[in-house]
Amino acid sequence: MDELYVEGGHRLVGELPIHGAKNSVLPLLAATVLVPQAVTFTNCPSLSDVDVALAILGNLGCKTRQNGTCITVDGATLSAVGIPDGLMRQMRSSIVFLGPLLARCGEATVSLPGGCELGPRPIDWHLSALEKLGAQVTESAGRLCVCAPRGLRGCELSLAFPSVGTTENVLMAASLAKGVTVLHNAAQEPEVADLCRFLNCCGARITGVGGSRLVVEGVARLHGCTYRVMPDRMETITYALAAAVTGGELSLVGVDKASLCPTLSVLEEMGCALHCEKRRLSVKAPTRLACARGVRSMPYPGFPTDAMAPFMTAACVANGTSVFTETVFENRYRHVDELRRMGARIRVNGRVAVVDGDSLHGATVQCTDLRGGAALLLAALAADGESRLGALQHLERGYPAWEDKLRRVGAQLYRIK
Ligand code: UD1
Repeated sequence: MDELYVEGGHRLVGELPIHGAKNSVLPLLAATVLVPQAVTFTNCPSLSDVDVALAILGNLGCKTRQNGTCITVDGATLSAVGIPDGLMRQMRSSIVFLGPLLARCGEATVSLPGGCELGPRPIDWHLSALEKLGAQVTESAGRLCVCAPRGLRGCELSLAFPSVGTTENVLMAASLAKGVTVLHNAAQEPEVADLCRFLNCCGARITGVGGSRLVVEGVARLHGCTYRVMPDRMETITYALAAAVTGGELSLVGVDKASLCPTLSVLEEMGCALHCEKRRLSVKAPTRLACARGVRSMPYPGFPTDAMAPFMTAACVANGTSVFTETVFENRYRHVDELRRMGARIRVNGRVAVVDGDSLHGATVQCTDLRGGAALLLAALAADGESRLGALQHLERGYPAWEDKLRRVGAQLYRIK
């Protein structure tokens, strides 16, 4: 396995492009299953999770073509309804193929999805929502068979929690269902709105986009289109923090400012000077970061759970004590033990993590999951001395060309095979 050698303590200065959003492109690729024509996406990030989504589409009989940041999927040749166990296990997002397969083919066979280990990540809400739309679910030998012998029918649905994946599955299934679906307490994440906009470009009829009440009027058929994937807010905030923790100054190009709101206010509270003009966000770090008094993860428009770990690294090198409360996932502090190896002073009590700001020193650490890995990479950039980072495959899932990008703005790092 490769390791990354990082010489910490170098200020990062310069300009970086922001790629298309991982959490948007994955449901968008799944949605192509609904469309019996060619669909082209531009601004696609190059990520291992995208490779898995393309492998799933290929397995289902769709034709896929990738040319740089452009991906074309032709669903005209869709010929299978089952996703092999090996592909399902590779990422959590594989579950968002369920709704579109069911809607287009009337059946789907999947197993439980994999992905980052953030505690239990059940799919009960996905299944019960699809059942309300008319699906029957049976389980045998660890495989789920979901079918809708009499087709899907629109209905009124209310989610107990605004789950992102459940909302996406319902939207895709309801787009080809008979009649109208009204979804209450839908997830309002910007990536969900991106999916709605794409589906509407293909001829779906979804209103209430961006809100918590979505109305989907089912249509008989969708058509192809060309669609640009929205910018990645987690990539943006991770590089903004790379500037923050190294006392640097970065200009991030191609960002979507509106989707960043809850994280930008914490960056400002920590003393960063921000300037946003059109699609460019400039971040200038103070001489010493200030602590973040209380950061609590919440569904959008609250503070994103995915940004918790990277912000904890900033808190490790800030002046004072920061408090983080995780409310979305049960096990989001797996990176904490690794940060402690670098000198971090963090106390965890259940869902609350208290970080006493000080300084970090280099150490040998392992990435624990995607965002925890980002937190450790930021820590290595901020630390005094040298660090070695292992389990880099977690970073490959979410950060396109991250090594090149960081090197380009002054990071001293190289890969040891
Ligand atoms: C998506 C994002 C992930 C982000 C998360 C929350 C993608 C590819 N991933 O994940 O980066 O951290 O939203 O913003 O877009 N739950 C259940 N039963 C279910 C479904 C979910 O109990 O059937 C629970 C989960 O265990 C978790 C919470 O609901 O505790 C939130 O999950 P959800 O919003 O569905 O997240 P994902 O769609 O998996």
